[in-house]
Amino acid sequence: MNIDDSLLTHGERLVWELKSLYSRHGYRSYRMSKFEEYDFYANNKDFLVSDHVITFTDTNGKLMALKPDVTLSIIKNSQDLPQEIQRVYYNENVYRIAKGSNSFREILQTGLECFGDIGEAEVMEVIALADKSLQALSQDSMLVISNLSILEDAIDALGIPAESRGEAFRAAEEKNLHALKAICSDCGVPEAKSGPLKALISRNGPLKEILPSLPSLLKHACNSGEAERFLATLEKLAESDVGDRLRLDFSVADDVNYYNGIVFKGYIQGMPEPVLSGGQYDRLMRKLHRRSRATGFAVYTGLLDRLEDMPKPEDMAGGGFLNVALPKGRLGEKVYDMFARAGYECPSILEENRKLIFENPEKKVRYFWVKPSDVAIYVERGAADVGVVGKDILLESEPAVYELLDLKTGKCSMAVAGPKDFEDNPDKTLRVATKFAGIARKYYQSIGRDIDIISLNGSIEIAPILGLSDVIVDIVETGRTLKENNLEVKTTILPISARLIANRASYEFKSALIDALARKLNGIVEEKQ
Ligand code: PRP
Repeated sequence: MNIDDSLLTHGERLVWELKSLYSRHGYRSYRMSKFEEYDFYANNKDFLVSDHVITFTDTNGKLMALKPDVTLSIIKNSQDLPQEIQRVYYNENVYRIAKGSNSFREILQTGLECFGDIGEAEVMEVIALADKSLQALSQDSMLVISNLSILEDAIDALGIPAESRGEAFRAAEEKNLHALKAICSDCGVPEAKSGPLKALISRNGPLKEILPSLPSLLKHACNSGEAERFLATLEKLAESDVGDRLRLDFSVADDVNYYNGIVFKGYIQGMPEPVLSGGQYDRLMRKLHRRSRATGFAVYTGLLDRLEDMPKPEDMAGGGFLNVALPKGRLGEKVYDMFARAGYECPSILEENRKLIFENPEKKVRYFWVKPSDVAIYVERGAADVGVVGKDILLESEPAVYELLDLKTGKCSMAVAGPKDFEDNPDKTLRVATKFAGIARKYYQSIGRDIDIISLNGSIEIAPILGLSDVIVDIVETGRTLKENNLEVKTTILPISARLIANRASYEFKSALIDALARKLNGIVEEKQ
C-alpha cells in the first residue's frame, strides 16, 4: 500500500515516526477500547493533571468517564507478571481541562510504558527512548532528569514537621529559596541546615558538567542508598549516546504519591511547556496493588503541529536575548531601576513615548511593559523568559513558573478589611468581595469559615459601604484607601512583595543568563537591606 504522506500534518508525521521508533525497540501497540468507571479516576485523582473528568452514565446506570489519562488504564488492564517485562506504546486522546481555558480539550498523547521485572537497564532504555523521541521532534531539544526520592530525602533531612513537607516540596519545585528559608525559620530549623537542599536545587546544567561535583552535593543533602544508585546510573548515562544531551535539574518533579526515583521532562527550544514527561512510577503500581515496578513517558503530540510554525533558531532575529516582562506602573519603574543597576540597562525605555517593547542589543535584553496581572501569563506561556510580579498574583493564579527571587520591593499585605463596627456572625454565611477569589477561598477554608465570594475587578472598598458584602479581601499598601472609606484591617492574611519569576523551559535553555540575572539582582536587593 502506498501512503501519500503529503496528506499527513506535521504532527501526524511525527506521531508515525514515534510509533515506528517504539515498535523497532520491541514495544507493542496498546489500544484502549473501553471506558473506565468514574470511580477509578476519582480514587487516583492526584495522579491526574486536573481532577475534572468528563462523565456519562452507561446503559447499566454506572457512572463512566472519558479517559483523562492512559497510564492508569494500561496498568489496570494488564496482568501482574512480576517475573516478566512488558513493553507497550500507545497513541491516544485524553480529555482534560486545558490550563487557562477552563474548558475540556481532546489532547493527543503518544507514549510508552515498561513494567514488570524492570531494573536499571530498563530505566536507562526508557530514558534513551525519551531522548530519541525528542530528537525526532527537534534538533534543538533537551531532556532534563531529576530524582524524586533524593529530593524527598533531602527535604526530610531538614527535620521539618510533616505538615510543612508539602510546602517545602513545592518551594523546591519552584526553585524558591526564599520560601525554603521562611519555612525553616517558621519551623525553628537553623538556616544552615537547609544549605545542602538549596545547593541541590540551585545546581543544574549539562549532566557531564554537573557529575564531578554531584557526589559531594548528594552526600551533604541526603546520605541514602538511592543517591549511590542514582550516581551509578548517571555515570552510565554520561558514557552512553544520550550523555551529551542530558541535563540535570532537581527542581524537575512530579507527584510523589505516584512517582519515585528518576523522573524527567523534555523541552524543545521555543515551546513554553514540556513536550514530554515521564519517569518511574512504582508508587502508582503499589496503589493499583501491583508487585512489580514501572517506568514510562508521554509525548504531548497534540502540541506538535505548532512546531512547524516555529521560527528556526538561526532565523530568529535577536536570538539569545533575555526577554523580560515588567509590570506597567510605579512598581515596574522601581524594578527597572534595579535591573539597570544590576547591569541590564536599556536607555530607550526612559524615552517619553507609548511604546511597549524596548531592547538594548548590546546587553542582549528586551523589556515589555505589560499589565501587572498579566506578567505571570506572559512568563508561563514563554512570551517572556523572566518577569516581575507581585506574590498576590502568583498565589491567585498559581502559574507553573520558577520563583527565583524576592525583590523585597512593592511591599504590601493581603488583608481582610471591613467597616469599623462590623462583627462577624458565625451563624450567617460571610459575604466577601475581592479580586483575589482563590486567596480568599483558601484563607477562609483554612479557618473553616463558610463564605460567599463576590468577585469584583476594582474599587473593592465600595462593596461593604454599599452593603454588597460584609468584608473585603484586598491589598493594603499605605492603608489610606481603607481609612478614607471608613474601613479597617480585621486580619492580615500574608505579606506581599515583587518576585522574579522564570519560564521553566526558558530556564533550561538560558539557565546561565537567568542565573546571572538573579545573582546580580540579589546583590542589589542585599545592598538595599
Ligand atoms: C489597590 C488595592 C487598594 C489600594 C490599596 O488598588 O486594591 O484599593 O491599592 O492601597 P493603599 O493601602 O495604599 O491605599 P489599585 O490601585 O490597584 O486599584 P483598584 O481599585 O482598581 O484595584
